[in-house]
Amino acid sequence: MDFLKYIAFPQSMEHIALLHLVLNLICMLFLPYAGVLFGASVLSRYFERAGRRTHDPVAARFAKELTETVIANKSTLLFFGVLPFLSLLFAYAQLLQHTDNVAVSMIFFAFVLFTAATALLYTYRYTFRLEEIISIASSASKTEDLDEYLATTSRLHDRAGFWGVVLLSISLTLLIAGAAAASSPSSVTTLADALFSFESAARILQSVAASGMVTGAVILYFFFAGKNSEDTPYALFVKKFAVSLTMASTMLLPLFVLASLAALPAAALTGTVFGLSALIVVLLLFIGHFLYALLQHFTARTAANAFFLLILVFGVAIVKDQLAFGNATQKETAVLSAQYDADHAGLLARFGLGAKPLTGEEIYAGRCSACHNFGDKKIGPAYKDVLPKYENNRDILRAFILNPRKMNPAFPPMPNQGLKPAEADSIAAYIMLTYKRK
Ligand code: HEC
Repeated sequence: MDFLKYIAFPQSMEHIALLHLVLNLICMLFLPYAGVLFGASVLSRYFERAGRRTHDPVAARFAKELTETVIANKSTLLFFGVLPFLSLLFAYAQLLQHTDNVAVSMIFFAFVLFTAATALLYTYRYTFRLEEIISIASSASKTEDLDEYLATTSRLHDRAGFWGVVLLSISLTLLIAGAAAASSPSSVTTLADALFSFESAARILQSVAASGMVTGAVILYFFFAGKNSEDTPYALFVKKFAVSLTMASTMLLPLFVLASLAALPAAALTGTVFGLSALIVVLLLFIGHFLYALLQHFTARTAANAFFLLILVFGVAIVKDQLAFGNATQKETAVLSAQYDADHAGLLARFGLGAKPLTGEEIYAGRCSACHNFGDKKIGPAYKDVLPKYENNRDILRAFILNPRKMNPAFPPMPNQGLKPAEADSIAAYIMLTYKRK
């Protein structure tokens, strides 16, 4: 995936901080949506087949309304799914541009698969409606053409649903394992390492539970907002299912949150990461409390409370994961920003805008005078004592200044001052001229 490195460019420290912030925001839009899309699609397929097998109209209706809720129209998929995913890919490509980490390639393939999956799921969602219309029409006037059309449509519907769910699952697995790999930037360089690690296993389980939780909550919220007393068999069925789904996932989630915390590399762990993880567990307990109340007595208000708390948990979890990622990639950040500084200085120099080189006198004042004096010895020898031997050997003096060697046993060694060759030239010229005048 080297071409992704070409679209990335060096970043200053400030840009990198900004990029992490943007990544947080993108994740807050994308991850809950991806979770619901996954949960609702899997459940929709499940209930559609169950409904067909048992001729249960309630299950069939639920299957249809589930997809219609998460895929309201094309724009939903585009603005909550495809576009944020693309931005997320760019952000990772920028942040990891100097590593051999596999994360960026994985996220790239995840993105391609995700886009294909959304097209399929969109087809799946619209053929629900078509099937219905055709079956109404064909029951009114039974013709063979219509029957055949119905059969083709329902085959298309089935395949689109099946492959949509399969591609979506692979895509999200790659994304999650890729994001986990990103937090060990220098050690995870192959797909197998990334997929079969304790960290990605813990994160995948955590994501499945989170998906169950947010799907359940979305059903409760969007199906029942403001409707306290809907007691049709359908409403009762949906409520019971959604509350149980959210409850089960909420109870499992703390386990996986802790497991994925344990799996993080040491470099990623800070007090804040621990603190946020603890906060997540506490918030989950509160959600559990609301869900229990919902099981006892359903009110739209309690459902809304549970829903908003849950969105909050998602937010906190994303901030925690991104923080851990930022901590774990501090070295990469330093490399990137050093490169940025060098590029920037080069660019300025090309237009003659670079910082003026320091004069010998300035280098002496800033770098040498702490240890040297022309007339007296300080930490290092006095220049008047050591410089005469360099009178006709300016090059040797210059080489010594660039890379000091042990000279006189009466002195400690001189530390390397990290000067550039041009700077060594000017300081050598300056001290040679000046010591004689003094
Ligand atoms: C941290 C203290 C320190 C700084 C800063 C320092 N020096 Fe020195 N310098 C020494 C010491 C100690 C020696 C003696 C080393 C020895 O004899 O092995 C020395 C020796 C020298 C010598 C004599 C080498 C010889 O032939 O014996 C020169 C010339 C010299 N320094 C130049 C410089 C210049 C130029 C700078 C600034 C760019 C500089 N030093 C900065 C500590 C320092």
